[in-house]
Amino acid sequence: MKEIVFIAHPIPETGIDRLRERFEVSVHPDIRPLETPALAEKLAGCSGVISLLCDRIDGAVMDRCPQLKIIANHAVGYENIDVAAAKKRGILVTNTPGVLTAATAEIAFALLITLTRRIIEADRFTRAGRFIGWDPLLLRGDELAGRTLGIIGMGRIGQDMARKCRAFDMRILYHNRGPVDPETERALSAEYVSLDDLLARSDAVSIHAPSTPETRHLIDAGALEKMKPGAYLINTARGDIVHEAALADALAAGKIKGAGLDVYEFEPKVTRGLPDLENVVLLPHIGSATHEARDRMSAMAADNVIAALTGRTPPNLVPEMTER
Ligand code: GLV
Repeated sequence: MKEIVFIAHPIPETGIDRLRERFEVSVHPDIRPLETPALAEKLAGCSGVISLLCDRIDGAVMDRCPQLKIIANHAVGYENIDVAAAKKRGILVTNTPGVLTAATAEIAFALLITLTRRIIEADRFTRAGRFIGWDPLLLRGDELAGRTLGIIGMGRIGQDMARKCRAFDMRILYHNRGPVDPETERALSAEYVSLDDLLARSDAVSIHAPSTPETRHLIDAGALEKMKPGAYLINTARGDIVHEAALADALAAGKIKGAGLDVYEFEPKVTRGLPDLENVVLLPHIGSATHEARDRMSAMAADNVIAALTGRTPPNLVPEMTER
């Protein structure tokens, strides 16, 4: 009898086709997350699952699925999975690193330039028939060249954002758990600084850190207060890194000039007040939403499942899985 793989939401066919060649595959047809008991019920009898960030998989769910061998998250982040609980039960956990780096850095850069060059406002202005001729005073924004970008979280995506912003002649500061290797620092002309220093010196701050207990509300009212007056904030990482109510206050007060958000503290809910502000750009968590990245994520998640269910080590085990 074929082993059963459950895919908790529709994903690109690339990975589904690969799995169908070997296993019985069941795709839950809804994008809304299953409540925990319903998810556990669906998973009972399954050997593998492809999950999304909205699927909370904890020890209690795992206990109801004794045949489960692998949880393959279709995302680079995996804070939705209790990895310690999985490890204790001998269940493997994988993610999709590397394949969505360019796509996510592109969306962070897109948010930055959309804000600094007032793209949304300019589009609305033109559509409204208000363009009556070239005007030297019209819709002036802030030039990126010569300005300073502060990157919080200098992993793959943070480094790619640095690379893109260097191409636009920006100066790069970064804060991370520790400095990156000197060669990367040199290649990106990036300076490692404390968080306070980064906040005080950056014209725009872009967040690229994972969601952990240490990063939760890293950007709170106090941190926003330390930012340069008139700076921009971009978050394409995880919503809970920013205290969104404090951000809405800082934006309304004009302390922060603009914010570009692809992720939300209470996702998919957007904190009250934010959509009423003109100086924010709000995206529906589309950082990795290119055809290329999403196809690769789907294939990678499937390959991880195939490896685990055919007795091989999946190529993308999350780091905690290999730590002693
Ligand atoms: C998306 O947010 C991901 O972690 O891949």
